[in-house]
Amino acid sequence: MKEEFFKTSEIVLKVENISFFYEKKDLLIKDLSFSLKKNEFLSIIGSSGCGKSTIIKLISGIKKMNSGDIVGKKTAYMPQKDLLLPWRNVLENILLPSELSKKNLNEEKKKAIDYLKKLNLEKYEEKYPYELSGGMKQRVSFIRTLLTDADILLLDEPFSALDAITKENLQKWLLEVLKDFDKSIIFITHDINEAIFLSDRILVCQNRPLDSFKEYIVPKEKKLDLEFIKEVKEKILIDIGGGK
Ligand SMILES: Nc1ncnc2c1ncn2[C@@H]1O[C@H](COP(=O)(O)OP(=O)(O)OP(=O)(O)O)[C@@H](O)[C@H]1O
Ligand SMILES: [Mg+2]
Repeated sequence: MKEEFFKTSEIVLKVENISFFYEKKDLLIKDLSFSLKKNEFLSIIGSSGCGKSTIIKLISGIKKMNSGDIVGKKTAYMPQKDLLLPWRNVLENILLPSELSKKNLNEEKKKAIDYLKKLNLEKYEEKYPYELSGGMKQRVSFIRTLLTDADILLLDEPFSALDAITKENLQKWLLEVLKDFDKSIIFITHDINEAIFLSDRILVCQNRPLDSFKEYIVPKEKKLDLEFIKEVKEKILIDIGGGK
């Protein structure tokens, strides 16, 4: 880790010329580079199978790339599928990573309860996943990710399984929560409106093997500008080959 660089730079993560394959004859990612800035909300959009989840797994260290370099601050990964353990209640689920990394559980528990209060979930501490709605489960998963103290949150389609209204509420909830925390985000989604609403910058996957992104900057003052949204949306749809 090049600690010195990250002390002085506004960049919290650098992905440099990475290449990756699951099977040797089928290169998935080729010489791909990008970076993430401090407190930036960065979304990645691309057709199914283009390698979005794989990028996040490489950044989190779950998978190892074949070549290239990834340097950055501490990351926490919220996987594409809800991974709450059915036999653990909300609090126990949130404390799972702390248990695994052998942190002081009393301190972590206090922190977890504090987060649950802050995010209006304190009544649910002792509920089990089957007693929660889809949106609540996602909020609990998110709190678990937040509690790990990472600077960078890697969120893989956290809202994709939710109905439109729950999704919209959670998007607003997420932006509110993030105001109180010093985090940088990489957020994967198939939903272009969601990406525009949440992001400072959107990267759209190009080519197979994935070797570059097309980049769209979303200025805060344009987020509600219908003309701007329509224009960006049309361009991204063309980039991803007229998909959904
Ligand atoms: N463990 C694995 N072994 C072999 N191939 C895999 C494995 N995981 C993913 N792949 C393949 O790698 C490609 C990229 O997968 P990945 O999960 O990164 O796509 P994605 O962009 O996240 O897609 P989606 O939008 O559907 O989630 C796909 O073709 C997939 O079949
Ligand atoms: Mg995926």
